[in-house]
Amino acid sequence: MRLIIQPAAGLRGSISIPGDKSISHRAVVLAALAEGASRISGWLPSGDCWATVNGLRALGVQIEVLNETETSADLLVQGVGLNGFRDPAGPLNCQGSGTTIRLLAGLLAGQPLDVILDGHTGLRRRPMERVARPLRRMGANIQTTDGRPPLRVQGGRLQGIEFEMPIPSGQVKSAVLLAALFADSPIVIHQPGPVRDHLERMLNARGVQVEVTGNTIKSPAGVEKISPLDVEIPADFSSAVFPLVAALLAPESEVTLTRVNVNETRTGLLDVLREMQADVTLLDQNEAYGEPLAGISARSSALRGMVIQGDTVVRMIDEFPILAVAATQARGRTVVRDATELRLKETDRIKATVEELRKMGAQMIACPDGFEVHGPTRLKGAVVDSQGDHRLAMALAVAGLVAEGQTIITNAEVIADSYPGFSRMLSQIGARVELA
Ligand code: S3P
Repeated sequence: MRLIIQPAAGLRGSISIPGDKSISHRAVVLAALAEGASRISGWLPSGDCWATVNGLRALGVQIEVLNETETSADLLVQGVGLNGFRDPAGPLNCQGSGTTIRLLAGLLAGQPLDVILDGHTGLRRRPMERVARPLRRMGANIQTTDGRPPLRVQGGRLQGIEFEMPIPSGQVKSAVLLAALFADSPIVIHQPGPVRDHLERMLNARGVQVEVTGNTIKSPAGVEKISPLDVEIPADFSSAVFPLVAALLAPESEVTLTRVNVNETRTGLLDVLREMQADVTLLDQNEAYGEPLAGISARSSALRGMVIQGDTVVRMIDEFPILAVAATQARGRTVVRDATELRLKETDRIKATVEELRKMGAQMIACPDGFEVHGPTRLKGAVVDSQGDHRLAMALAVAGLVAEGQTIITNAEVIADSYPGFSRMLSQIGARVELA
């Protein structure tokens, strides 16, 4: 599928963004582990999240879809309790979803089952020892295929460990915290800096007391049960950033995004854009189910370049393709350092982002641990490719809005991995977009 974008000005509107992907995965996993039924509203019906639902169904969990639109679904999950899973009929297909495979590995580490976790070619390139190593130390038997999927997980009763996380990964931390539910002694995790903490908040809301002190997380031993909870998933900041940056870059624009999750382990890009002089305001700040929410309003702004490194990188790990687009329109140099992890995402995001934005005339070079952009540059419409990466495809669409002439994004169907309804949202704020 191709997404065809025309240059835009005067983008306007108040829009709601689909549910948070990280929270959607975790909500359905915890509902499956709970004793009793949980209703999840505003769940994200994206390719990645369906992979988690289908994996849980194959493990014997009943999940009913009550209402579904293109951008949101309500699920009714009949939790099987901590020990109610059954052997699946065959390997679980995690599609292209790193979160699915790593969270399920953590969950299965504590189950007396023998399960193969696999996915498509993109996922088969991604590193799995980072999650297998701590789970083995806890007592699970896990084999990877040269460090990658397919994984074979033979789980059982686990023991507590003290785990010094070598990489600041939300997926690895969550896998260990899920396995910790089956450990007979406490698990202590030391994270190297701030890492998304949705699972800690969600466990606490469901009766499992996870203690967080600075960068140390302690999960209790001997968890007996998880309480079911009806929840509403907040909008995903990592999706909100696309209309947000579009509004900053297109002339005479002002867009408001409603009820977005603004957990500060996720909003590094907000801090960066503000430092780049973006006109962004948070509105109606409140809290739901232990997560902070806010409306975000963004207006056309003259940006300037800056250096991004250290902990901020982790707090915006999914936002580098769109940051690169913003940087092409910013005055001066934008430098990204300490971001080698980007090479291990859906694509090598450093290489892919530089390659595709250069086709549009961006002045940009790749570095081993990041990239540099010189701006501002008047981008030119071109034929560019998603390279199988949903976030790159959406960033290129925003670049197309501020380029001269038409931009065509090939292999754009991957956008549905995280943002179903993306092209409709762009039309809603006044962009001329066509799917072909
Ligand atoms: C995620 C964690 C991050 C992020 C991914 C979702 C999660 O990956 O890039 O999109 O839900 O835990 P890493 O754990 O590999 O940093």
